[in-house]
Amino acid sequence: MAKENGKATAVAHSNIALVKYWGKRNEALVLPWQSSLSVTLAPLEVKTTVAFGAPEDNIRLNGKEAKGSERARVIALADVVRKSKPQLGPLCVHSEGNFPASAGLASSAAAFAALALALREAAGLEEEVEATSLLARLGSGSACRSIQGGVCVWHRGEREDGADSFARQHFAAEHWPNLRMVAVILSREEKAVNSRDGMRNTVQTSPYYPAWVKAAEADIGPALEAIGARDIEKLGTLAERNAWRMHATSFAATPPLSYMKPATLAILLALEEERRKGTALWFTLDAGPNPVLLTEEAHLPKALAFAERFSPLEAVVCHPGGDARLLSEGHLF
Ligand code: PMV
Repeated sequence: MAKENGKATAVAHSNIALVKYWGKRNEALVLPWQSSLSVTLAPLEVKTTVAFGAPEDNIRLNGKEAKGSERARVIALADVVRKSKPQLGPLCVHSEGNFPASAGLASSAAAFAALALALREAAGLEEEVEATSLLARLGSGSACRSIQGGVCVWHRGEREDGADSFARQHFAAEHWPNLRMVAVILSREEKAVNSRDGMRNTVQTSPYYPAWVKAAEADIGPALEAIGARDIEKLGTLAERNAWRMHATSFAATPPLSYMKPATLAILLALEEERRKGTALWFTLDAGPNPVLLTEEAHLPKALAFAERFSPLEAVVCHPGGDARLLSEGHLF
């Protein structure tokens, strides 16, 4: 890939977990207690340009200078690369997402995946899926599942240094092109407890946490089977149950933690009724109030009409996306 003066640009999609990652066994290394599985979300993507050799570290995210913890997380990831190559010096990072403004969609997975790929390229390191996934994981756990497209599994790994904890693609996007994920935006408020703090609290205080770990790990095999067979009913049923269980562990924490709002619960319960009418529609829910509906292209009009009943601010239709990639032109600076 063409590079000029240690500059590189990468693009990565977001992803939605159908078997969630919820809880770290090692906070500093971002090592999970259980494996997780996700689908890469196109057309949601983040583009990031990185160049070493700047006068000082300069980080701009969506047109604004990054401050506080946002800036610190980007610099911490750059430091992982700079540790082995101190001659790289200060860096300039510009990053832009095409996500609907504050849609409540997790952009950190796409952002850290694009950053990891661009950082390695700008540092002159080999383009290597495994190493890029490992680096992205240190920025945000879910980001390790956005290096490859389609369906990826983040295998929890066993090693204490985390060298075997990275994501691998199990199905390319082309395997199930008519799979649809519809993000139903019910609220744009910033959540009171971020996923990092929420999972820490759950791991430390929820009596249900060990049961969650066991149940989630056991969901990976059947989820892969359902995807292999393109069985939306089997996959949807499993994804819903997995999301209920993740949220149940958090309800049982001290203090109790609910990412659901009344409007979230209303839509989740109404889904059962909708299915009785024959619509192939299921949900998953991350650490926030906005559900993501799971369906197939043929049922999309019904899925959107269903979402409409709950007066969402927006419904964003996604399909399985491809790998994170380097661009040889179109740098952000
Ligand atoms: O990657 P993080 O630290 O933002 O955590 C993501 C956690 C969930 O989105 C709730 C689940 C997942 O697997 O993506």
